Amino acid sequence: MVTGDLPAVSAIAAAVHPGHPESDAVFAERLGLFPAGCLVLQAGAGAAGYAIAHPWRRRRPPALDTLLGGLPEAPGVLYLHDLAILPEMRGGGAGGAVVQVLSELAGGLPMALVAIGGTGVFWRAQGFAAVPDPALDAVLRRYDPGARYMERAADQPVRR
Ligand SMILES: CC(C)(COP(=O)(O)OP(=O)(O)OC[C@H]1O[C@@H](n2cnc3c(N)ncnc32)[C@H](O)[C@@H]1OP(=O)(O)O)[C@@H](O)C(=O)NCCC(=O)NCCS
Repeated sequence: MVTGDLPAVSAIAAAVHPGHPESDAVFAERLGLFPAGCLVLQAGAGAAGYAIAHPWRRRRPPALDTLLGGLPEAPGVLYLHDLAILPEMRGGGAGGAVVQVLSELAGGLPMALVAIGGTGVFWRAQGFAAVPDPALDAVLRRYDPGARYMERAADQPVRR
């Protein structure tokens, strides 16, 4: 992902996550803080999906639509902020392939994410498991009632 991709990223986010809106500043900040973790799925001349990940603290999922302000000096996880693929490009293995790319980028750290309602099946297939923690309930409710914090150990296999 480069700065010029950000309008397409915002458009994909609006189409895929109408119930979880985030400001353009959130995407721009993540790209500025950790470009290696920001990917676009190229389809022809345009983008058909994106992934945004960054080093972060374990069991501290950021609230939705929130700026980070910086990255931790001693991260505990590679945090997957979002993975979104346009409907016509789904089911072809791109989602699983992105998890593989990011697991290599994680460099031995676990990965973590907030699975929004209904996506737990996909994430479990990718080696993630829910980590129940009542301390996270308030921030998870701001995503949606079915949101779950999940982690994936560094040595988990990825289904492709
Ligand atoms: C989740 C998502 C990224 C998966 O991308 P993808 O390219 O379709 O994933 P893959 O092709 O690698 O894997 C597809 C597999 O996951 C399953 N899957 C994908 N999304 C699913 C969902 N929401 N619920 C249940 N299963 C799902 C498919 O059934 C398929 O399983 P199969 O191989 O047994 O048939 C994509 O569906 C998407 O962008 N969804 C909307 C955005 C979203 O919810 N992102 C996650 C935010 S936490």
